[in-house]
Amino acid sequence: MENLKIELNYKNLSFEELGNEEMILCKAAQKAALNAYAAYSNFKVGAAVLLENGEIICGNNQENASFPSGICAERTAIFYANAKYPDIPIKILAIAAYSNGEFQKYISPCGICRQVLVETERRFQKPVRILLCGSGQVLDIEKGEDLLPLAFNDENLG
Ligand code: THU
Repeated sequence: MENLKIELNYKNLSFEELGNEEMILCKAAQKAALNAYAAYSNFKVGAAVLLENGEIICGNNQENASFPSGICAERTAIFYANAKYPDIPIKILAIAAYSNGEFQKYISPCGICRQVLVETERRFQKPVRILLCGSGQVLDIEKGEDLLPLAFNDENLG
C-alpha cells in the first residue's frame, strides 16, 4: 500500500495587495453579481473571466422556478467566453457573491463548475487562475485543477 497526499497551495491577499489587473477583474465580478437573477436564493454571484486577448467577459447566476434549470455565475461566464471566442484561452476567473445587501466573504466554485474549469484547462492546455473575491480578502488559486484533484476527464473516456 502507498499513502499519497494532495496539497493545495493558494494565497490569501488583501484588496490592497491586488495588482491592477486582478483588482479590475474582482470589481467586474462584483458588478456582475449585482445583475444576477437570484429570485429564489437571493444569493447573487458574479464571475468575470479575463481572456488571453485582454477581453473581460462576465456572467452571473440565473435561477429558475424549476431549480435545476438554473446555472451558476462561473459557468455562465466561461460558456459565454468559449461561445464567443472558441479559440482563445481563459487566463483568470474572478468570483464574487452578494447577499443581504453586501458583498460576502469569498465563495468557491461548486463541483459542477470545477468540472467545467478542468475541461476548459484541458481544452486549451492552459491553467485558469482563480480569484475568490471576498469583501476585503481575496484567495488566489493557481489553477482550476487544484480545486478538483483526480478529476474525471477526457482521458478516462479513452
Ligand atoms: N452559485 C453560483 O452561481 N456560484 C457558486 O460558486 C455557488 C453558487 C449560485 C447557484 C444558485 O443560484 C445560488 O448561487 C445559491 O446556491
